[in-house]
Amino acid sequence: MARSGNVTRRGFITSVMAFAGSIMGIVVGLPIIGYLVSPAIGGRKTDSWIPVGKLDTYPVGVPTVFSFTRSKINGWEKTTNSYSVYVLRGANDEVKVLSNVCTHLGCRVSYSKDTDTYACPCHDARFDRNGVVLSGPPPRPLDQYESKNDNGTLSIRVLES
Ligand code: FES
Repeated sequence: MARSGNVTRRGFITSVMAFAGSIMGIVVGLPIIGYLVSPAIGGRKTDSWIPVGKLDTYPVGVPTVFSFTRSKINGWEKTTNSYSVYVLRGANDEVKVLSNVCTHLGCRVSYSKDTDTYACPCHDARFDRNGVVLSGPPPRPLDQYESKNDNGTLSIRVLES
């Protein structure tokens, strides 16, 4: 029988069990909530140097395509993106690496040796070998990747969001 001001054995045990249950809920629940919420608020950008091969394998003066894929985990989804770049090696091994993504609406351009231009099939744009717009609607030249040459191995800097 409970008396005012005193705690019964049953009341004490109930309180202890409720307290222990709350602690266990927090210990188990917080990591789960963190796991579920963190990808949604993450939004990190990645900055990577991607090797694109030996520089001396690229012909001098001819834009040469190099393709690669990148896998990315975005939240709970894993995506794989394909990239292609054009490597233009100069006579003194200076390098220009251009994106093949048209700066108008993102179609893929392709290089033609015959015309020495990049052509975009979507709206008939043309870029010269350095990526400068010759005709069509693109608002700016082809994007250029930062590159570096480490002992003959060429790498490009890829930023992904
Ligand atoms: S997307 Fe290339 S010209 Fe429109």
